[in-house]
Amino acid sequence: MGTIRLDRYLADVHIGSRKQIKEFIREGRVRIGDAVVTKGEEHLDPEEDTVFFDDKQLQYSKQRYIMLNKPAGVVSATKDGLSKTVIGLLKNIPVRGLSPAGRLDKDTEGLLLLTDDGPLIHHLISPSRKVDKCYEVHLKEEISDEALTTLREGVEIGDDSKTLPADVKRLAPDEKGQPVLELIIREGRFHQIKRMLHAVGHEVVYLKRISMGPLALDESLPPGGYRYLSADEIQALKTAGKE
Ligand code: URA
Repeated sequence: MGTIRLDRYLADVHIGSRKQIKEFIREGRVRIGDAVVTKGEEHLDPEEDTVFFDDKQLQYSKQRYIMLNKPAGVVSATKDGLSKTVIGLLKNIPVRGLSPAGRLDKDTEGLLLLTDDGPLIHHLISPSRKVDKCYEVHLKEEISDEALTTLREGVEIGDDSKTLPADVKRLAPDEKGQPVLELIIREGRFHQIKRMLHAVGHEVVYLKRISMGPLALDESLPPGGYRYLSADEIQALKTAGKE
């Protein structure tokens, strides 16, 4: 691919804004190989050179990986004639080619990965990979141990096959005193959690995705907040799940 400027490289891997990148370089926090470089105009070959920021090796990629704390009221789509979309929430990010890795319902909140890395999306949502998706599920009414056992074993929700076994545990009730579960599923069927709870006679009043494989929602992001993933988070996602 030839050489590019160091400041361009750092912008492509999203370590900060243009202004921050200038500062990082000036402060001597960036190395190419063993050499600290204090000029953004320095050229390097992303395929040959190894770049470090604060002694952590960077992975060069022009692809974008964004963690969004999806708020209720927006749809997990790139375009929608009626409703606001998750893509519409992103400011100061080039959104061309970005898609959500799986869908959350309009009223569901929490972790949503947006990326232009199609193979990674496929990898994360493919049923054969069985990547864990962990949800916080608030219910209208108390749920019995028998119902939890049914969810754990797999439940008939009107599809061709039962749901795969899920992990379920009780969490402390919410501020309204309503029961809360942590539910981990390995598939991504349409309205899956709501349908699973419905099948055992329960209504979900609030649903939030907490993690997807190794990627946990950054709780410092307010609803509607987002950030780029770190190189370590991207690497972990690429190897998530099992065939
Ligand atoms: N299950 C649901 O029912 N809704 C979601 O948004 C995600 C999982």
